[in-house]
Amino acid sequence: MKKRVHQLLSSRPVRFFEQVDSTQDVALQWLHEGAVAGSVVIADEQLKGRGRQGRTWHTPPCVALAVSVILKPVLEQLPQITMLGALAIAGMLDSIGVQNVSIKWPNDVQVDGRKISGVLPEAVWDGHKLRGVALGMGVNVRNDFRASELEQTATSIESVLGRTVDRGELLVELLNQVDAGLKQMRDDTLFDTWRSLLNTLGREVTIHDVTGTAEAVDRQGALLVRDSAGVVHRILAGDVAFGR
Ligand code: BTN
Repeated sequence: MKKRVHQLLSSRPVRFFEQVDSTQDVALQWLHEGAVAGSVVIADEQLKGRGRQGRTWHTPPCVALAVSVILKPVLEQLPQITMLGALAIAGMLDSIGVQNVSIKWPNDVQVDGRKISGVLPEAVWDGHKLRGVALGMGVNVRNDFRASELEQTATSIESVLGRTVDRGELLVELLNQVDAGLKQMRDDTLFDTWRSLLNTLGREVTIHDVTGTAEAVDRQGALLVRDSAGVVHRILAGDVAFGR
């Protein structure tokens, strides 16, 4: 896989690992060392993959995509980076014919309500100055969740398509989608597309200690939830549970 990845991505700096603790850790360190925008870290297996909210993200050998892309947005664009990650994955899925793709706020990509991919953006700062972002994306390609505790909540590309796909081609398409999304950050296009793919709006949700209707999202990516007393709560991060 290593040789192929370097061939496929010859136009950008790449660090490929057959096995690594977390591509995010490598990318964050690389950012400290001066990595340029567009650099990517890829692994065939992660031993300590990290998910949102301090969770673990499992990347068993050769069945998934584990990618961290280094980006250099301006500060005002930072909220859009999480949208960009989810949309790049949704675009990649669309390009290979996966249907019923939606985004569970803020950036879980789902197919038929089951998670197929997760996004973890992490920023590196020089004091108040934004040095860059490591946009981590994990995609389940041929993971088999049958008879696992995730059977009802997770899925993979090959399970939904019923055919094999090429991880190298997916990787190229994913990075093309990231590049395309970066161009859409200049106006509202990216935000509008992200909002249109959310499966969370209009539904009863519980998040942190708030229960109510997920009414809207704002341009910062925050979720606006109206509780039964009519109070609107602006929530910047967290895990949505559907229903009361
Ligand atoms: C989530 O919890 O939904 C986010 C999961 C993000 C996983 C990816 S895999 C590549 C990158 N490296 C990591 O350690 N995490 C991200």
